[in-house]
Amino acid sequence: MYQFAPDPDQPKPQLYESLARAAAAIVDGEPDPVANMANMAALVWQFVPRLNWAGFYRAIDDELVLGPFIGKPACIRIPFGSGVCGTAAALGTSQRVADVHAFPGHIACDAESRSELVVPVVRDGKVLAVIDLDSPEPARFDEEDAYGIERLALVAATAI
Ligand code: SME
Repeated sequence: MYQFAPDPDQPKPQLYESLARAAAAIVDGEPDPVANMANMAALVWQFVPRLNWAGFYRAIDDELVLGPFIGKPACIRIPFGSGVCGTAAALGTSQRVADVHAFPGHIACDAESRSELVVPVVRDGKVLAVIDLDSPEPARFDEEDAYGIERLALVAATAI
């Protein structure tokens, strides 16, 4: 059993430091990428408040394919360049969207989602996956959230 006790009231830098440490501990010594993505998605859900979806899409050929996640069932395949996730994968940069309805080509998987943060997982210059967080709250994600999930992506890059 893994026991982590995130304090959602702590400042974001500390919260994401704890998340990165928990992720590094949970993937340590485990070579299976699906198991590691599943546990990291569960950790995001446990540590990061006010989300309605959190998980991975994996880069396979020229599209993203749904990976381990917490939330409602989601669209399975997203071409590179489409939606928020496909844009993050194609550009290799984080996408922080305050209002998903204003993002051209946004792919609605859960009608409750209002804002979104997508961070690519990159190893040796290649996008392996993206980490996608959705929130029912408009403008839920700030720069500290993006930086925090980018730290998690560094851990993920060694574990998937
Ligand atoms: N909204 C995403 C699709 C994935 S779901 O949010 C889980 C997008 O526009 O790429």
